[in-house]
Amino acid sequence: MGRLLAGEGGSRARGEGRPVTTTRGCAADVRRVIDRLLGDPEHRQKWGTVAGEDGRFLEMCIGMIGAKNVLEVGAGTGLSSLYMGLGLLKTGGKLTTIEFDAERLRRAKANLEEAGLSQTVDLMGKDAWDVLPRLQGTFDMVFLDAVKIDAIHYLDMIFPRVRRGGVILAHDVNWGHDNTENCKMRDYLDALKAHPCLETVLVSDESFNLQGITGAGMALSHKSCVHGECPVRPGRKLARLPAGRGFAPGDQLGHIVLEKHVDDYGNLGYCLLLDRSCTKQEVIGLCEQYFLRHHQQSTLSVHLYTSREAFDRRNDLSSPPERYFEHLVAQCYRHPRAPYDEIRYYRDSQILLFEKGPAPDPEMKREAVS
Ligand SMILES: C[S@@+](CC[C@H](N)C(=O)[O-])C[C@H]1O[C@@H](n2cnc3c(N)ncnc32)[C@H](O)[C@@H]1O
Repeated sequence: MGRLLAGEGGSRARGEGRPVTTTRGCAADVRRVIDRLLGDPEHRQKWGTVAGEDGRFLEMCIGMIGAKNVLEVGAGTGLSSLYMGLGLLKTGGKLTTIEFDAERLRRAKANLEEAGLSQTVDLMGKDAWDVLPRLQGTFDMVFLDAVKIDAIHYLDMIFPRVRRGGVILAHDVNWGHDNTENCKMRDYLDALKAHPCLETVLVSDESFNLQGITGAGMALSHKSCVHGECPVRPGRKLARLPAGRGFAPGDQLGHIVLEKHVDDYGNLGYCLLLDRSCTKQEVIGLCEQYFLRHHQQSTLSVHLYTSREAFDRRNDLSSPPERYFEHLVAQCYRHPRAPYDEIRYYRDSQILLFEKGPAPDPEMKREAVS
Protein backbone atom coordinates (compact mmCIF):
# COMPACT_ATOMS: atom_id res chain seq x y z
CA MET A 1 0.00 0.00 0.00
CA GLY A 2 1.76 3.11 -1.20
CA ARG A 3 1.63 6.66 0.08
CA LEU A 4 2.38 9.89 -1.66
CA LEU A 5 5.29 11.76 -0.13
CA ALA A 6 5.02 15.50 -0.10
CA GLY A 7 6.92 18.42 1.37
CA GLU A 8 9.29 17.97 4.27
CA GLY A 9 10.25 14.39 4.89
CA GLY A 10 9.34 13.33 1.35
CA SER A 11 11.80 12.18 -1.27
CA ARG A 12 11.59 12.91 -4.96
CA ALA A 13 12.37 10.69 -7.89
CA ARG A 14 15.66 11.84 -9.38
CA GLY A 15 15.14 14.40 -12.13
CA GLU A 16 11.36 14.18 -12.19
CA GLY A 17 10.64 16.92 -9.66
CA ARG A 18 7.41 15.36 -8.51
CA PRO A 19 6.51 13.32 -5.43
CA VAL A 20 7.14 9.60 -5.46
CA THR A 21 5.04 6.85 -3.99
CA THR A 22 6.52 4.99 -1.05
CA THR A 23 5.38 2.67 1.68
CA ARG A 24 7.28 4.61 4.37
CA GLY A 25 4.71 7.29 5.19
CA CYS A 26 4.20 10.97 4.77
CA ALA A 27 5.40 13.74 7.09
CA ALA A 28 2.12 15.67 6.79
CA ASP A 29 0.15 12.64 8.00
CA VAL A 30 2.50 12.19 10.96
CA ARG A 31 2.20 15.86 11.90
CA ARG A 32 -1.57 15.66 11.77
CA VAL A 33 -1.59 12.84 14.32
CA ILE A 34 0.96 14.66 16.52
CA ASP A 35 -1.19 17.81 16.43
CA ARG A 36 -4.24 15.82 17.38
CA LEU A 37 -2.48 14.27 20.39
CA LEU A 38 -0.95 17.56 21.51
CA GLY A 39 -4.31 19.29 21.05
CA ASP A 40 -5.85 17.04 23.70
CA PRO A 41 -4.88 18.73 26.99
CA GLU A 42 -5.44 15.53 28.97
CA HIS A 43 -3.38 13.27 26.76
CA ARG A 44 0.08 14.14 28.08
CA GLN A 45 -1.02 14.07 31.69
CA LYS A 46 -2.95 10.84 31.38
CA TRP A 47 -0.42 8.85 29.36
CA GLY A 48 2.83 10.51 30.47
CA THR A 49 4.04 11.44 27.00
CA VAL A 50 6.95 13.67 26.06
CA ALA A 51 6.23 17.38 25.64
CA GLY A 52 6.20 18.69 22.06
CA GLU A 53 9.57 20.37 22.64
CA ASP A 54 11.17 17.09 23.73
CA GLY A 55 9.63 15.34 20.73
CA ARG A 56 11.11 17.91 18.36
CA PHE A 57 14.44 17.43 20.08
CA LEU A 58 14.30 13.68 19.39
CA GLU A 59 13.38 14.34 15.77
CA MET A 60 16.29 16.80 15.45
CA CYS A 61 18.80 14.39 17.01
CA ILE A 62 17.95 11.77 14.41
CA GLY A 63 18.55 14.29 11.65
CA MET A 64 21.76 15.63 13.21
CA ILE A 65 23.47 12.25 13.47
CA GLY A 66 21.77 10.77 10.41
CA ALA A 67 20.42 7.94 12.57
CA LYS A 68 19.12 4.93 10.66
CA ASN A 69 18.68 2.46 13.46
CA VAL A 70 16.89 3.76 16.55
CA LEU A 71 15.59 2.03 19.68
CA GLU A 72 13.00 3.32 22.15
CA VAL A 73 12.18 1.79 25.53
CA GLY A 74 8.65 2.85 26.55
CA ALA A 75 6.50 3.68 23.51
CA GLY A 76 3.48 4.74 25.58
CA THR A 77 0.73 5.84 23.19
CA GLY A 78 3.30 6.55 20.51
CA LEU A 79 3.83 10.32 20.64
CA SER A 80 7.63 10.18 20.93
CA SER A 81 7.67 7.40 18.29
CA LEU A 82 5.75 9.70 15.92
CA TYR A 83 8.35 12.45 16.37
CA MET A 84 11.20 10.00 15.82
CA GLY A 85 9.30 8.60 12.85
CA LEU A 86 9.36 12.11 11.35
CA GLY A 87 13.15 12.21 11.71
CA LEU A 88 13.49 8.72 10.25
CA LEU A 89 11.42 9.57 7.18
CA LYS A 90 14.25 11.96 6.33
CA THR A 91 17.11 9.56 7.04
CA GLY A 92 15.39 6.48 5.65
CA GLY A 93 15.90 4.66 8.95
CA LYS A 94 13.81 2.52 11.29
CA LEU A 95 12.64 2.68 14.89
CA THR A 96 12.19 -0.33 17.12
CA THR A 97 10.04 0.58 20.11
CA ILE A 98 8.96 -1.51 23.10
CA GLU A 99 5.76 -1.23 25.15
CA PHE A 100 4.31 -3.81 27.54
CA ASP A 101 1.03 -2.20 28.57
CA ALA A 102 -1.87 -3.51 26.45
CA GLU A 103 -3.94 -0.31 26.36
CA ARG A 104 -0.98 1.95 25.52
CA LEU A 105 0.15 -0.56 22.93
CA ARG A 106 -3.27 -0.53 21.27
CA ARG A 107 -3.27 3.28 21.15
CA ALA A 108 0.31 3.46 19.89
CA LYS A 109 -0.48 0.98 17.13
CA ALA A 110 -3.54 2.95 16.03
CA ASN A 111 -1.65 6.27 16.10
CA LEU A 112 1.30 4.91 14.13
CA GLU A 113 -1.01 3.32 11.57
CA GLU A 114 -3.00 6.52 11.18
CA ALA A 115 0.29 8.37 10.63
CA GLY A 116 1.33 5.86 7.98
CA LEU A 117 4.42 4.83 9.96
CA SER A 118 3.81 1.10 10.18
CA GLN A 119 6.73 0.43 7.86
CA THR A 120 9.06 2.82 9.68
CA VAL A 121 8.28 1.82 13.25
CA ASP A 122 8.47 -1.72 14.58
CA LEU A 123 6.25 -1.68 17.68
CA MET A 124 6.99 -4.61 19.99
CA GLY A 125 4.38 -5.51 22.58
CA LYS A 126 6.87 -6.99 25.03
CA ASP A 127 8.63 -6.41 28.32
CA ALA A 128 11.91 -4.54 27.82
CA TRP A 129 13.55 -6.86 30.36
CA ASP A 130 12.94 -9.72 27.89
CA VAL A 131 13.85 -7.83 24.74
CA LEU A 132 16.93 -5.80 25.70
CA PRO A 133 19.28 -8.65 26.66
CA ARG A 134 18.50 -10.39 23.34
CA LEU A 135 18.98 -7.42 21.03
CA GLN A 136 21.01 -7.98 17.91
CA GLY A 137 22.89 -5.46 15.79
CA THR A 138 23.84 -1.92 16.73
CA PHE A 139 21.87 1.26 17.22
CA ASP A 140 22.74 4.84 16.30
CA MET A 141 20.39 6.24 18.91
CA VAL A 142 18.52 4.89 21.94
CA PHE A 143 15.74 6.72 23.79
CA LEU A 144 14.97 5.52 27.33
CA ASP A 145 11.52 6.51 28.59
CA ALA A 146 10.11 3.70 30.74
CA VAL A 147 10.36 3.09 34.51
CA LYS A 148 12.76 5.68 35.95
CA ILE A 149 14.23 3.59 38.75
CA ASP A 150 15.08 0.90 36.15
CA ALA A 151 16.91 3.31 33.80
CA ILE A 152 20.36 2.30 34.97
CA HIS A 153 19.58 -1.31 34.14
CA TYR A 154 18.30 -0.40 30.68
CA LEU A 155 21.65 1.37 30.24
CA ASP A 156 23.52 -1.78 31.34
CA MET A 157 21.60 -3.78 28.75
CA ILE A 158 21.72 -1.43 25.76
CA PHE A 159 25.19 0.07 26.16
CA PRO A 160 27.02 -2.67 24.20
CA ARG A 161 24.51 -2.28 21.35
CA VAL A 162 25.13 1.44 20.80
CA ARG A 163 27.66 2.14 18.09
CA ARG A 164 30.67 4.34 18.69
CA GLY A 165 29.51 7.89 17.89
CA GLY A 166 25.92 6.95 18.74
CA VAL A 167 23.75 8.65 21.35
CA ILE A 168 21.67 7.59 24.33
CA LEU A 169 18.85 9.85 25.51
CA ALA A 170 16.96 9.45 28.75
CA HIS A 171 13.78 11.33 29.54
CA ASP A 172 12.61 12.81 32.85
CA VAL A 173 15.99 13.46 34.42
CA ASN A 174 14.79 16.79 35.74
CA TRP A 175 11.12 17.41 36.29
CA GLY A 176 11.71 20.59 38.19
CA HIS A 177 12.58 21.22 41.81
CA ASP A 178 9.45 20.00 43.48
CA ASN A 179 9.05 16.72 41.66
CA THR A 180 9.59 13.47 43.47
CA GLU A 181 10.77 11.69 40.32
CA ASN A 182 14.20 13.31 40.08
CA CYS A 183 15.92 11.26 42.77
CA LYS A 184 15.10 8.08 40.87
CA MET A 185 17.36 9.19 38.03
CA ARG A 186 20.29 10.35 40.19
CA ASP A 187 21.99 6.98 40.06
CA TYR A 188 21.64 7.04 36.30
CA LEU A 189 23.13 10.53 36.10
CA ASP A 190 25.90 9.55 38.51
CA ALA A 191 26.81 6.57 36.29
CA LEU A 192 26.85 8.76 33.18
CA LYS A 193 29.12 11.30 34.86
CA ALA A 194 31.66 8.65 35.81
CA HIS A 195 31.62 6.93 32.44
CA PRO A 196 34.83 7.25 30.39
CA CYS A 197 33.06 6.40 27.12
CA LEU A 198 30.17 8.84 27.47
CA GLU A 199 29.98 12.61 27.24
CA THR A 200 26.72 13.85 28.71
CA VAL A 201 24.76 17.09 28.82
CA LEU A 202 21.33 17.77 30.26
CA VAL A 203 19.03 19.49 27.84
CA SER A 204 15.45 20.47 27.35
CA ASP A 205 14.49 21.36 30.90
CA GLU A 206 12.07 24.19 31.63
CA SER A 207 14.53 27.00 31.03
CA PHE A 208 15.39 25.51 27.65
CA ASN A 209 11.84 25.43 26.46
CA LEU A 210 10.99 27.93 23.74
CA GLN A 211 7.24 27.54 23.83
CA GLY A 212 6.61 27.90 27.52
CA ILE A 213 5.68 24.25 27.86
CA THR A 214 7.36 22.49 30.72
CA GLY A 215 9.80 19.87 29.53
CA ALA A 216 10.97 17.09 31.79
CA GLY A 217 14.68 17.18 31.15
CA MET A 218 16.63 14.98 28.81
CA ALA A 219 20.10 13.53 29.38
CA LEU A 220 21.93 13.35 26.07
CA SER A 221 24.97 11.05 26.14
CA HIS A 222 27.38 10.66 23.28
CA LYS A 223 29.29 7.37 23.11
CA SER A 224 32.44 9.10 22.04
CA CYS A 225 34.88 6.24 22.44
CA VAL A 226 35.03 2.55 23.22
CA HIS A 227 37.51 1.26 25.81
CA GLY A 228 37.56 -2.42 24.98
CA GLU A 229 35.02 -4.13 27.20
CA CYS A 230 33.99 -0.85 28.76
CA PRO A 231 32.02 -1.47 31.95
CA VAL A 232 28.67 0.24 32.11
CA ARG A 233 29.20 1.41 35.66
CA PRO A 234 32.91 2.06 35.83
CA GLY A 235 34.65 2.66 39.11
CA ARG A 236 32.15 0.45 40.91
CA LYS A 237 33.46 -2.75 42.41
CA LEU A 238 31.18 -5.74 42.27
CA ALA A 239 30.77 -8.23 45.07
CA ARG A 240 28.39 -11.15 45.34
CA LEU A 241 26.55 -12.13 48.47
CA PRO A 242 24.73 -15.42 48.93
CA ALA A 243 21.11 -15.16 49.98
CA GLY A 244 20.01 -15.54 53.56
CA ARG A 245 23.44 -14.85 54.93
CA GLY A 246 21.75 -13.25 57.88
CA PHE A 247 23.43 -9.95 58.56
CA ALA A 248 21.09 -9.66 61.49
CA PRO A 249 22.57 -6.47 62.99
CA GLY A 250 20.74 -4.54 60.27
CA ASP A 251 17.58 -5.22 62.17
CA GLN A 252 18.91 -3.25 65.07
CA LEU A 253 19.99 -0.32 62.98
CA GLY A 254 17.66 2.47 64.05
CA HIS A 255 15.97 4.38 61.27
CA ILE A 256 12.96 6.50 60.49
CA VAL A 257 10.86 6.02 57.38
CA LEU A 258 10.87 9.50 55.85
CA GLU A 259 8.88 8.55 52.81
CA LYS A 260 7.07 5.58 51.39
CA HIS A 261 5.80 5.92 47.84
CA VAL A 262 4.21 3.80 45.17
CA ASP A 263 4.72 4.99 41.61
CA ASP A 264 2.33 4.73 38.64
CA TYR A 265 3.48 1.16 37.97
CA GLY A 266 2.96 -0.03 41.55
CA ASN A 267 6.68 0.02 42.32
CA LEU A 268 7.40 0.55 45.99
CA GLY A 269 10.05 2.97 47.23
CA TYR A 270 11.26 3.97 50.69
CA CYS A 271 13.51 6.76 51.91
CA LEU A 272 15.04 5.99 55.30
CA LEU A 273 16.96 8.21 57.69
CA LEU A 274 19.56 6.31 59.72
CA ASP A 275 19.78 7.57 63.26
CA ARG A 276 23.49 7.00 63.86
CA SER A 277 26.69 6.26 62.06
CA CYS A 278 26.78 2.63 61.05
CA THR A 279 28.99 -0.05 59.63
CA LYS A 280 28.72 -1.51 56.17
CA GLN A 281 27.60 -4.82 57.65
CA GLU A 282 24.74 -3.09 59.42
CA VAL A 283 23.65 -1.33 56.23
CA ILE A 284 23.73 -4.60 54.31
CA GLY A 285 21.74 -6.21 57.12
CA LEU A 286 19.06 -3.51 56.96
CA CYS A 287 18.80 -3.80 53.18
CA GLU A 288 18.52 -7.56 53.52
CA GLN A 289 15.62 -7.13 55.92
CA TYR A 290 13.78 -4.94 53.42
CA PHE A 291 14.41 -7.45 50.62
CA LEU A 292 13.06 -10.26 52.77
CA ARG A 293 10.02 -8.38 53.99
CA HIS A 294 9.05 -7.21 50.51
CA HIS A 295 9.70 -10.46 48.78
CA GLN A 296 6.37 -10.29 46.94
CA GLN A 297 6.86 -6.73 45.77
CA SER A 298 7.39 -6.26 42.04
CA THR A 299 10.03 -3.55 42.26
CA LEU A 300 11.51 -2.24 45.47
CA SER A 301 13.93 0.61 45.97
CA VAL A 302 15.18 1.86 49.32
CA HIS A 303 17.30 4.98 49.73
CA LEU A 304 19.26 5.17 52.99
CA TYR A 305 20.29 8.68 54.09
CA THR A 306 22.38 9.95 56.98
CA SER A 307 21.11 13.53 56.69
CA ARG A 308 17.62 14.89 56.48
CA GLU A 309 18.90 17.81 54.45
CA ALA A 310 20.16 15.46 51.71
CA PHE A 311 16.74 13.81 51.68
CA ASP A 312 15.00 17.20 51.47
CA ARG A 313 17.21 18.12 48.51
CA ARG A 314 17.01 14.75 46.77
CA ASN A 315 15.04 16.12 43.85
CA ASP A 316 16.98 19.34 43.48
CA LEU A 317 19.54 18.67 40.77
CA SER A 318 21.01 22.15 41.22
CA SER A 319 22.40 21.14 44.63
CA PRO A 320 25.90 19.64 44.38
CA PRO A 321 25.77 15.89 43.67
CA GLU A 322 28.79 15.33 45.95
CA ARG A 323 26.78 16.51 48.93
CA TYR A 324 23.90 14.30 47.97
CA PHE A 325 25.96 11.14 47.56
CA GLU A 326 27.95 11.91 50.71
CA HIS A 327 24.73 11.47 52.68
CA LEU A 328 23.14 8.78 50.57
CA VAL A 329 24.76 5.80 52.24
CA ALA A 330 23.21 3.14 50.08
CA GLN A 331 20.38 2.34 47.76
CA CYS A 332 18.93 -1.10 47.50
CA TYR A 333 17.02 -2.19 44.47
CA ARG A 334 15.04 -5.26 43.51
CA HIS A 335 13.39 -5.97 40.18
CA PRO A 336 11.60 -9.28 39.63
CA ARG A 337 13.42 -9.70 36.30
CA ALA A 338 16.91 -8.76 37.50
CA PRO A 339 18.98 -11.83 38.35
CA TYR A 340 20.24 -10.30 41.60
CA ASP A 341 19.06 -7.91 44.24
CA GLU A 342 21.41 -4.98 44.33
CA ILE A 343 22.86 -2.88 47.12
CA ARG A 344 24.71 0.18 45.87
CA TYR A 345 26.96 1.13 48.74
CA TYR A 346 28.18 4.65 48.02
CA ARG A 347 30.84 4.93 50.72
CA ASP A 348 33.23 2.68 48.85
CA SER A 349 31.47 2.68 45.49
CA GLN A 350 30.66 -0.97 45.71
CA ILE A 351 27.71 -2.69 44.09
CA LEU A 352 26.79 -5.75 46.10
CA LEU A 353 24.83 -8.28 44.14
CA PHE A 354 22.66 -10.24 46.48
CA GLU A 355 21.52 -13.69 45.40
CA LYS A 356 17.74 -13.83 45.42
CA GLY A 357 16.76 -16.02 48.32
CA PRO A 358 13.79 -18.28 48.94
CA ALA A 359 10.50 -16.77 50.08
CA PRO A 360 10.68 -15.76 53.74
CA ASP A 361 8.87 -17.84 56.30
CA PRO A 362 5.35 -16.67 57.33
CA GLU A 363 6.58 -15.46 60.72
CA MET A 364 8.72 -12.88 59.02
CA LYS A 365 5.91 -11.69 56.75
CA ARG A 366 3.74 -10.99 59.74
CA GLU A 367 6.39 -8.61 61.02
CA ALA A 368 6.57 -6.79 57.70
CA VAL A 369 7.38 -3.08 57.78
CA SER A 370 4.36 -1.10 56.68
C1 LIG B 1 6.56 7.72 30.15
S1 LIG B 1 5.69 6.49 29.27
C2 LIG B 1 6.34 6.61 27.64
C3 LIG B 1 5.85 7.79 26.89
C4 LIG B 1 6.26 7.81 25.44
N1 LIG B 1 7.70 7.69 25.27
C5 LIG B 1 5.78 9.09 24.82
O1 LIG B 1 6.44 10.12 25.00
O2 LIG B 1 4.75 9.08 24.18
C6 LIG B 1 6.51 5.04 29.84
C7 LIG B 1 6.02 3.78 29.17
O3 LIG B 1 6.93 2.73 29.43
C8 LIG B 1 6.21 1.53 29.52
N2 LIG B 1 7.05 0.56 30.21
C9 LIG B 1 7.46 0.62 31.50
N3 LIG B 1 8.24 -0.44 31.79
C10 LIG B 1 8.31 -1.18 30.66
C11 LIG B 1 8.95 -2.40 30.33
N4 LIG B 1 9.68 -3.07 31.24
N5 LIG B 1 8.81 -2.87 29.09
C12 LIG B 1 8.07 -2.21 28.16
N6 LIG B 1 7.43 -1.05 28.42
C13 LIG B 1 7.55 -0.54 29.65
C14 LIG B 1 4.94 1.95 30.26
O4 LIG B 1 3.88 1.04 30.07
C15 LIG B 1 4.67 3.33 29.69
O5 LIG B 1 3.78 3.28 28.63
